[in-house]
Amino acid sequence: ESAVDIAHVYRGTFVHSTDHTAVEILEDRLLGVDMEGKIAFIGSGQEVDSLSQKWRFEALAVTQLGQHEFFMPGMVDTHIHASQYSYAGTALDLPLLQWLNTYTFPVEARYKDMGFARNVYTHVVKRTLRNGTTTACYFATIHTDAALLLGQIANDFGQRALVGKVCMDTNNFVPHYKETAEESQDETNRFIGELLKKKYPLVRPVVTPRFAPSCSSALLGHLGEIAQNNNLHIQSHISETKEEVKLVKELFPDYDSYTDVYHKHNLLTDKTVMAHGCHLTDEELKLFREKGASVAHCPNSNISLCSGMLDARRVLNHKVKLGLGTDVAGGYSPSMLDAVRRTLDTSKALTIQDPQYQTLTFEEVFRLATLGGSQALSLDEHTGNFKVGKDFDALRVNTAIEGGPIDLINHGEGPKVLLEKFLNLGDDRNIAEVYVAGKRVVPFVERP
Ligand code: GUN
Ligand code: ZN
Repeated sequence: ESAVDIAHVYRGTFVHSTDHTAVEILEDRLLGVDMEGKIAFIGSGQEVDSLSQKWRFEALAVTQLGQHEFFMPGMVDTHIHASQYSYAGTALDLPLLQWLNTYTFPVEARYKDMGFARNVYTHVVKRTLRNGTTTACYFATIHTDAALLLGQIANDFGQRALVGKVCMDTNNFVPHYKETAEESQDETNRFIGELLKKKYPLVRPVVTPRFAPSCSSALLGHLGEIAQNNNLHIQSHISETKEEVKLVKELFPDYDSYTDVYHKHNLLTDKTVMAHGCHLTDEELKLFREKGASVAHCPNSNISLCSGMLDARRVLNHKVKLGLGTDVAGGYSPSMLDAVRRTLDTSKALTIQDPQYQTLTFEEVFRLATLGGSQALSLDEHTGNFKVGKDFDALRVNTAIEGGPIDLINHGEGPKVLLEKFLNLGDDRNIAEVYVAGKRVVPFVERP
């Protein structure tokens, strides 16, 4: 006899990653979700009668997936600038440091206007959810109130999110877009306090120094202390371009490396995610591994801004946690399916340069987009795959949409082929439903 009440039961094919297998295919399974949105059981479809007695659900109330449908875990965007969504798809003609000064900082300065913030933040949360991002790790701007609003919007639409109020006390090009180290520290404390007070079940604050060139050593130190005292997540950027690495050497001459700058300020922990890392040395990756810090691979951005090509295989060989990010708007696409394809493209480009290179497989990249991302964000206790006890964060994928992007010409394509076609050809039309913590959040439901 079970004491747990079951809210929903789904029957069909489930595709996910485990610690041992990049793509595990579970055919004709029954998956039960409890009232808290957690996966209560996974059983065989043929056992529906005995399972319905054990778990006390109506066999007739089971949701049956169609022949060309499967559930996969929701995708995890480990690095996205919600504030930059307003100019996604433009302004990709300058290298990183000039791009920041010319396009990014002037736009981010506009988020003191809460109306502007509400408009953009609503659009980015809806667009990413619609495209299957069930968990997003967001940069907002330096503005605390707008960052809190982003947390509220993610909560209202039902997206799992880490939200960061950006911290920067150095800006020589757009001088009105920065804070003093003290303001940044005080506002970060206010942001964390206010966000935690709201008790949004899926939203957590993340301490967010923009990157070392935008932060004084004093500010980095304050932020390391805040993160440590409150056991919080940390996000930033690292070694995206060679020019930036050189600048950090000039600004922080007494440190062993770029990674060492963050490390010595207590910003490299097992809850740290650093975007890019294209130009990290083996020594630096060793330090990442030692500290349990992770890398967010953002291939669209790295190609769009001509920043570099991350050797993802090398990161994996170092056993450093790795997730994928869209990095809107250095990356122009808000869709994690694009991040999957760009990751494969980058790996294949590295293979063109060196035929001995061990190209990433689509199965491995599927894992990076789901379980890998949840591990990179240290949220894998709650999400990332279909394991009993985790939250049900899932996409109901339908590969056979009339007039959609996938043609199924051969009969009886198996689930693995359907997954591969979805990853390479699919889009939001193929995402029939999105669930976060057991709640259906796509199609959108009106909330008060
Ligand atoms: N480094 C510091 N800030 C940023 C940013 O906003 N985008 C990217 N791609 N890199 C950064
Ligand atoms: Zn970024």
